[in-house]
Amino acid sequence: MSYKENTEYFVIKENPIILGIETSCDETAVAITKGGREILADEIISSATEHARFGGVVPEIASRAHTEAILTATERALKNANLTMEDIDAVAVTKGAGLLGALLVGVSFAKALAFSYNIPLIPVSHIRGHIAAAYLADKGLEPPFITILASGGHTAIVNVKSFYEHEILGQTVDDAVGEAFDKIARVLGLKYPGGPNVERLALNGQNVIKLPKMLGNNYQGSEFDFSYSGLKTAVINYVHGETQKGREVACADVACSFQHAAIDVLIDKAFNALKLTGYKTLAVSGGVGANGYLRESLKVRAEKENIKLILPEKRHCTDNAAMICAEGYLQYKAKNFADLTLNAQAVVDGI
Ligand code: KG4
Ligand code: ZN
Repeated sequence: MSYKENTEYFVIKENPIILGIETSCDETAVAITKGGREILADEIISSATEHARFGGVVPEIASRAHTEAILTATERALKNANLTMEDIDAVAVTKGAGLLGALLVGVSFAKALAFSYNIPLIPVSHIRGHIAAAYLADKGLEPPFITILASGGHTAIVNVKSFYEHEILGQTVDDAVGEAFDKIARVLGLKYPGGPNVERLALNGQNVIKLPKMLGNNYQGSEFDFSYSGLKTAVINYVHGETQKGREVACADVACSFQHAAIDVLIDKAFNALKLTGYKTLAVSGGVGANGYLRESLKVRAEKENIKLILPEKRHCTDNAAMICAEGYLQYKAKNFADLTLNAQAVVDGI
């Protein structure tokens, strides 16, 4: 029987051991979970330092780095979990969105494993993976809840209605918040990856620079939408203006003021979404979820408003494979398997 025919007959286990693979950007990540939420191994090999001198991720370098790292990451994961490939019940892999060449490394490798060991191949949306990181942080968590999705490519307030139903209440109409962090980092002369460096610099600054409010009163779209390009331009203009006037730029104040403007609006809209839906649980997902100012501000507000807050570990906010296992588990239960024609997708519609 061909692999394709087999996908119909795979036996669904209660607590499958899932090997997850994530290669959408510059992290080669392989994790193993039992039943979706119990992490047995969680490996990440990053090529970030190789990209730093170019000021951003270079797709070709990322793809090559994945090719070099994927076998090592997989072997390490199996070793740390004290398992062999014979113990693995299914392979979950990020199919997109992301850098096409980078994704192809993970997808091809996952296909080879699934075919060789005759186990299900589970395609996973990277964004759904980010959202599913919440299930790793709280083993008993069940929808519904609101999540702030804040990554390098996405910014949205998402209503997680069920394990399988996600409604975008609002999203960015231009840049993503992580992208804005990265661009401001560049303007301030900070290295890639920008987000953590802006956060670090902001610790020495104050929120004293007035920046424009996002999306004015005349905006016709969703009240949960965002726009980061105006904020970014305002910061760039401020820095250039100061330089032209021959004044020394107060970089730490710029970082701090930008961070407040970029993050406060995420928090306000998320709490408005909680009010609208009547939900009592708020989660955070995506790389910007690792931001300390965001995390601390959310803790204060959640306590005040009696909201249960799910903060995934920082390493599960940025790209990782444990989140791919968590989402892969849900897709496994729904028998959403792929055959060997599975392809990577640079862009995925919706989430
Ligand atoms: O989710 P992620 O790892 O990759 C994408 O799917 O995009 O997010 C990466 C983004 C980058 O823009 C990075 O600068 C930002 O998350 N980021 C942060 C922090 N850590 C990562 N932004 C602000 N503060 C941080 N601590
Ligand atoms: Zn990501």
